[in-house]
Amino acid sequence: MLHTGLTVLAACFALAQCTPARRAMRTLESRAAPPSGFVHSGPASSSTVLHLRMALVPNDIAGLEEALYSVSTPSSPRYGQHLSKQEVEQFVAPKADSVAAVNSWLAEHSINATTLTPAGDWLSFSATVKQASALLDADFAVFTHEETGETFVRTLSYGIPADLSGHVELVHPTLSFSIPRRSGSAFHAVQPVQSSPVKRSAAVGDATTPAACASPTPIRPKCLQELYSIPTALAKSSSNHLGVIGYNDNSANLDDLQLFLTNFRPDLNPSTTFTLDSVDGGTNPQDPSDSTGETNFDTQYTVGLASGVPAHFIQVGEESGHDAWLDTVNYLLSQSAPPQVVTTSYAEAEDNVSQAYATKICSMYMQLGARGTSMLFASGDSGVGQGSCKQFVATFPNHCPYVTSVGATTGFAPETGATLTTGGFSTYFNVTQYQNQSVQAYLSKLGSEYSGLFNKFGRGFPDVSTQGVKVEYFWRGAEWLFTGTSVASPIFASIIALINDELITAGKSPLGFLNPWLYSTAASAFTDITSGNNPGCGTNGFPAEVGWDPVTGLGTPNYAKLRTAAGL
Ligand SMILES: *[C@@H]1O[C@H](CO)[C@@H](O)[C@H](O)[C@H]1NC(C)=O
Ligand SMILES: *[C@@H]1O[C@H](CO)[C@@H](O)[C@H](O)[C@H]1NC(C)=O
Ligand SMILES: *[C@@H]1O[C@H](CO)[C@@H](O)[C@H](O)[C@H]1NC(C)=O
Ligand SMILES: *[C@@H]1O[C@H](CO)[C@@H](O)[C@H](O)[C@H]1NC(C)=O
Repeated sequence: MLHTGLTVLAACFALAQCTPARRAMRTLESRAAPPSGFVHSGPASSSTVLHLRMALVPNDIAGLEEALYSVSTPSSPRYGQHLSKQEVEQFVAPKADSVAAVNSWLAEHSINATTLTPAGDWLSFSATVKQASALLDADFAVFTHEETGETFVRTLSYGIPADLSGHVELVHPTLSFSIPRRSGSAFHAVQPVQSSPVKRSAAVGDATTPAACASPTPIRPKCLQELYSIPTALAKSSSNHLGVIGYNDNSANLDDLQLFLTNFRPDLNPSTTFTLDSVDGGTNPQDPSDSTGETNFDTQYTVGLASGVPAHFIQVGEESGHDAWLDTVNYLLSQSAPPQVVTTSYAEAEDNVSQAYATKICSMYMQLGARGTSMLFASGDSGVGQGSCKQFVATFPNHCPYVTSVGATTGFAPETGATLTTGGFSTYFNVTQYQNQSVQAYLSKLGSEYSGLFNKFGRGFPDVSTQGVKVEYFWRGAEWLFTGTSVASPIFASIIALINDELITAGKSPLGFLNPWLYSTAASAFTDITSGNNPGCGTNGFPAEVGWDPVTGLGTPNYAKLRTAAGL
């Protein structure tokens, strides 16, 4: 035996390319077909170079989850005692034997990996399709997204050596067909302000509609400040930060921001602006033709509502491609002091993303939560799903239980759930304890309606909502109206950033991961929205109800009540 082994080794040294001994492989991930909208369009060229990432199993993710809940649950003795970067990394770092075993497997295939994340739980390497297919027992092929013609080299199944089970979590991109999409893209989010005033139902003359929201004025910061009792005074803390994520090189125009402030926040210094943070070569060109409604809106309603809170526009360059989500969260985790609130108005259909990848990225949001960052996402603008659907569509990353998902409302006195709001239940993530009672109460009201169209054990979303229909902002020097949950996430982020400012100024901890607090102490700080629904997939969608519902979540915020719930 030993002799044979040596002979093989010698033969291997003698050849320029030595073929590694074949190991018994075990499938790590597979899916029967690509996501809807994609077709298999032929084999991939064997010489195509793939840039792959590999996640190693963390040494104690359950311990991190326990720590997250203990610092985020108001009744816990450790509430608010967020973990340091090093403490989080200790939970997430792979075991030394995982690193050694994986590196020696890669070396057998002449592959050199570099460490991507501070904790060492992600590796990065390049390999040709031929190499990667042999390494992963995979069948990389070209898939075309029919609507756009974009092509993706992916495999519907891959494996790892059986003896590496428990060491490797996933390889990316393999089964995921994901690139961040503007939440508003599906609904023609940008519409010019009509020359005649926007007519609103129930607004004029209603005693409970704030004066600044009454027709014919479109929704502007003053309306939101009155409606949700958001303070106008300048924030005090310089260490409290608010991050706004931008993808696909959609830039935020500084002249438009100044116009917005001059017109809608005359009480603020019109030169107030954001800091630009660049990820993967992201830039913020200032030719008006480079700016988009999305990024202009997101920056104007953070700088312009979270008065005086230092804001960061975190621009993720197009070169990030299918690694955009990972690179963004890795950028945040690499900071010694990431922003205490981060808002993202981009999302994906859950099915575009593999479950292992979604779970891993979600666990990275868990790390940020444990460190005291609130991650907010727009829930999506496709109701329960567009077109004919086998099942209602949940959205990534909203389905992650460690983020806060924001839906949209419309109208006043009372507000109603906006029909475009994507909301429902994840098929990947089960409901967690903080949300269980609210979700069970909703499901019992729903009865058997839509049975089979959604996962009744799933994490429900959105968690909260704010106005999101026809909100006014500046773009290319003119006033426009923006509609979508894209609108709601920056508004809610600004409210949380202002609460954090008060907390930090008072020497207290920021709110961090919000959900356990939202569903307990803070639940009564929301105005329950009990009408509206989110049609899609040929149905009327879910109805809003008394209590939490998958259209408006817990409802819309009241700042004065939230600050009390935060102990201020
Ligand atoms: C691996 O990396 C080392 C150090 O950077 C380099 O010397 C070596 O050539 C690399 N090997 C391969 C196969 O790329
Ligand atoms: C799925 O991914 C494709 C390609 O990136 C994209 O065009 C499509 O909009 C995605 N679908 C959803 C619903 O996010
Ligand atoms: C979710 O809950 C269902 C029902 O209890 C269970 O069968 C399933 O394994 C759970 N899924 C996960 C990912 O925990
Ligand atoms: C949610 O509540 C149901 C019914 O009370 C219970 O069976 C289930 O175990 C709970 N799940 C969680 C995650 O708390």
